[in-house]
Amino acid sequence: MNPLAQHEKLAPGVGVWGVGNHAQRSTLPALSECPAVRLVGLTTRSEKVREEQARKWNCKAWKTPRDMLQDPEVEVVYLATPVGLHHEHGLLALQAGRHLWCEKSLTASLDTSQELVEVSTELDVALCEAFMYQHHPQFRQVLQWIVDGQIGQIRSISSRFGFPHLGPDDIRYVRELGGGALLDVGCYPLSAALAIAGEEPDGVHAVLGRDEGYAVDTAGSALLRFPSGISALLEWGFGRAYRNELEVWGEDGTIIAERAFSKPPDLSPRTVLRRQDGTVVDSDIPPANQFVHMFATFAGVLEADAAREEHRRRALRQARTVAAVLESAHLTGI
Ligand SMILES: NC(=O)c1ccc[n+]([C@@H]2O[C@H](COP(=O)([O-])OP(=O)(O)OC[C@H]3O[C@@H](n4cnc5c(N)ncnc54)[C@H](OP(=O)(O)O)[C@@H]3O)[C@@H](O)[C@H]2O)c1
Repeated sequence: MNPLAQHEKLAPGVGVWGVGNHAQRSTLPALSECPAVRLVGLTTRSEKVREEQARKWNCKAWKTPRDMLQDPEVEVVYLATPVGLHHEHGLLALQAGRHLWCEKSLTASLDTSQELVEVSTELDVALCEAFMYQHHPQFRQVLQWIVDGQIGQIRSISSRFGFPHLGPDDIRYVRELGGGALLDVGCYPLSAALAIAGEEPDGVHAVLGRDEGYAVDTAGSALLRFPSGISALLEWGFGRAYRNELEVWGEDGTIIAERAFSKPPDLSPRTVLRRQDGTVVDSDIPPANQFVHMFATFAGVLEADAAREEHRRRALRQARTVAAVLESAHLTGI
């Protein structure tokens, strides 16, 4: 048999639910490019977008999510609707027996995230939250330097992600759609701190801010303490100059990752190791499409029980930490 045909046969079929800016710009191209998956089709309420995008990517256009979930070719649902709808949409996908690859944030509350994780466990299907940057060679290099002992014991993590305000009609400003800076951008520095510390914080102090005229939180800062003694200082927000960076400060050195979260596929993101002895390594990270890498990893998760469990554990850890930030911030006024 032609090995390519065999590969195509094995690649899981993916249905895309929600074809907004993100799917059009980043994930439909990545799903089409990634050899480990097979883009079967897409569904979105707008008929014009549905038909145009299905033509562009040479895939099916389902009129309704129900049609998609009845299509036997669809093994995985990749969900890119607004955060506030992820619970309802994700539940429908899981209950139809489909694996769920969900855009961040998984849902808008801890209870609803827990429910999705429980249902995915009961129905024995995968659930992965799409933090794409963790699949880029840059983040892997950061973790590798840490594992190799290049900076010694980690002392602290700091990270910032934010950008100017978006258009007033953006879903990120609509409370009912799960808007707000914490669920949209704050989730990135939080997820990075959790992945690097490798544990859950036992102390969280946070403040959230809301610019005048907005119905959702537009900024936040959090200070986390981890049981191992690591601390993390994280900031995020809309309505500020672009920043997108991560630093890990250890006993023997510091790692600095620029463009740590969002980056174009043709960029070699600057990633530096500065050792206490004065030596500096400016790593030559190859350009990579982090969405393609993410989907390839997620495809592998479908076959491996331990990896499925690990992704569920990460999603829950993330949801609990977001909830702890909210709880702390509510105490200070928002
Ligand atoms: N990982 C990343 O780099 C990244 C970047 C950006 C966004 N995201 C995530 O991707 C998701 C979508 O973000 P986006 O920027 O693509 O948003 P968007 O452009 O506003 O698209 C939202 C999508 O959801 C659909 N939708 C279904 N029900 C809706 C409703 N009641 N109200 C509004 N839209 C509804 C919209 O299309 P129809 O109206 O046709 O149904 C559209 O397809 C979010 O979860 C976001 O956090 C991730």
